Amino acid sequence: MNSMENTTLLFNDEMEKIIDAMDLSQEAPVEEPQRQYWFMKKARQLIKEQSEKLGRPLTANITTFGCQMNARDSEKLVGILERIGYVEVPDENADFVIYNTCTVRENANLRVYGRLGYLHSLKKKNPHMMIGLCGCMMQEPQVVEKLKKSYSFVNLIFGTHNIYKFAELVVSSLLSDRMIIDIWKDTDKIVEDLPVERKYPFKSGVNIMFGCNNFCSYCIVPYVRGRERSRNPKDIVREIERLVKDGVVEVMLLGQNVNSYGKNLDEPMTFAQLLTEIEKIEGLKRIRFMTSHPKDLSDELIEVMKNSKKICKHLHLPLQSGSSDILQKMNRRYDKEKYLNLVEKIRTAIPDISLTTDIIVGFPGETEEDFLETVDVVKKVRYDSAFTFIYSKRTGTPAAVMENQVSEDVVKDRFNRLLETVQTIGREMSARDTGKVMEVLVEEQNSQDKHLMTGRLSNNLLVHFEGDTSLIGQLCQVRLDECRGFYYMGTKVG
Ligand code: 5AD
Ligand code: SF4
Repeated sequence: MNSMENTTLLFNDEMEKIIDAMDLSQEAPVEEPQRQYWFMKKARQLIKEQSEKLGRPLTANITTFGCQMNARDSEKLVGILERIGYVEVPDENADFVIYNTCTVRENANLRVYGRLGYLHSLKKKNPHMMIGLCGCMMQEPQVVEKLKKSYSFVNLIFGTHNIYKFAELVVSSLLSDRMIIDIWKDTDKIVEDLPVERKYPFKSGVNIMFGCNNFCSYCIVPYVRGRERSRNPKDIVREIERLVKDGVVEVMLLGQNVNSYGKNLDEPMTFAQLLTEIEKIEGLKRIRFMTSHPKDLSDELIEVMKNSKKICKHLHLPLQSGSSDILQKMNRRYDKEKYLNLVEKIRTAIPDISLTTDIIVGFPGETEEDFLETVDVVKKVRYDSAFTFIYSKRTGTPAAVMENQVSEDVVKDRFNRLLETVQTIGREMSARDTGKVMEVLVEEQNSQDKHLMTGRLSNNLLVHFEGDTSLIGQLCQVRLDECRGFYYMGTKVG
């Protein structure tokens, strides 16, 4: 295996050869990713035996909750599942059902518990069905306790730090009747070269970093995703080059706080420098990224975005609150004035950029005046769209024990008022390109009207226009005829 040590990101057929060459009569190797290749071969054998007994292929289904980071993790899980012989099916009537969970807000957890009840009824009809739970919610000890006590029919529980071990965990589950639990508190490990099955052939998420060091006082992410670690820039560029060779034209660089990329590398590098390297990749047409923390957004990044031909004209810049008092309690490390100055700087450099944001309403201690500060920022910045959230108390975070938690009625009233403002402005902002001809990346056929294709503008808005499926994955020029709220109807030109 020595020849592999310095190569990263293998093509599928190369990986296949290595898996095939694994010797199951020997112990599993200790080194990663070789160890996982060994377990992939082992899993394949076990799954083949089961499927021969049943006289049909084994099926699997993954449901993903939460953010794009989880979506990318699920693509990795599907990549391994397909490689070991499962056939992916669209619903939970499957031999192996996996929920990749989110825990950023309480109702995400409640949804998972609700759906587990339904899975239990399916499992009663299909006794060899396996149920696996992974993702952020599993990193919370009280969740695992509850699952052990009240949901003993679950077969496999693992967390966010060890999904690379999925093949190994599947083998353990297939060989055991007990609930397999493998949760790590944190890791500094990044394992490259594992299979991934992309949802779209023409676009892909690319992890550039994992974890978060910011500890915003309301947020559970640093506790469940661990400390910040950046991937080596060479691995990132190599992955994107491979993706481009495989038909990808757009990448979404993923990290909880991409603006602090590279700080912990042996040879530190900034996010702006990474973008400059990625820009050079021939054949790559569009670059997106998320999420940007306002405190770390540099002048260098604004300059690179301004001069780039590939970076999309869209920035997601979470505000969370417009009140400097609340921002301080949130541990965001910027205030209202700094945020507005930053927006001003970005808009001066890149006037046609779309800005979107996240806002939390009802953080502990939020007064009507604080709330009005948030509305004021929304009116000043004029976001294209905003995700608005009702504050959700996450046990274990500093905000959960803060005084003056805001009552439900007050929060709901503020939330509705904010939504109204955000939507009115969003509609006006979205319509500003009506009549222009702009480039879209064609993504899919419209599910309601087969004559229509759906494409995405650089600024992330969707456009529906007449066309056929041969356009999927291509960049087309489309005239934006009419804006309907948050999307356009258009006509393909040329
Ligand atoms: N309550 C409500 N919203 C939250 N978010 C993170 N934690 C919480 C919480 N406890 C929101 C933030 C973040 C987005 C991904 O989720 O706005 O930017
Ligand atoms: Fe959570 Fe703040 Fe980190 Fe974002 S930056 S993941 S809100 S702690």
